[in-house]
Amino acid sequence: MSTPDQVPPASHPASSDCEEIDRRTVIRGAGVVGASVVGAAALAAGGLSSPASGAAVSGRYVIKKSAIPVGGGKVFAAHKVVVTQPTAGKFKAFSAVCTHQGCTVARVAHGTIDCPCHGSKFDMTTGRVKAGPANSPLHAKAVKVTGGSITIG
Ligand code: FES
Repeated sequence: MSTPDQVPPASHPASSDCEEIDRRTVIRGAGVVGASVVGAAALAAGGLSSPASGAAVSGRYVIKKSAIPVGGGKVFAAHKVVVTQPTAGKFKAFSAVCTHQGCTVARVAHGTIDCPCHGSKFDMTTGRVKAGPANSPLHAKAVKVTGGSITIG
């Protein structure tokens, strides 16, 4: 039975990346992180699911450490975040928005974060430009490692 006071669930135009984070990567309700962080992640996930127009998006995310390969990284395109693990246990996060013309970087390979649009490459440890045409580094994001999770934001 429904009442006029009931509010339908918020629509969630999730992209595949958002689904990926929701289902496999974001730790929901984990004991190691506070409810506010998880709430912020869930809020951010919902709020970021609409396409951004190349702008860096703020928000907090909680990601399983195991989702990020050592010596590599992962791009969360829907959230405009790229997370790397240059060496075991050392995590870095950057805006995934290329500083050249705002494309979303596509991959982390061979020590660089690569933009598919015009070929810019950024150092996976520092975010600095390794190959242009970009001439500014990727914007770093704060990373906090707690137990098996990484909080970014
Ligand atoms: S937008 Fe990334 S290289 Fe041009």
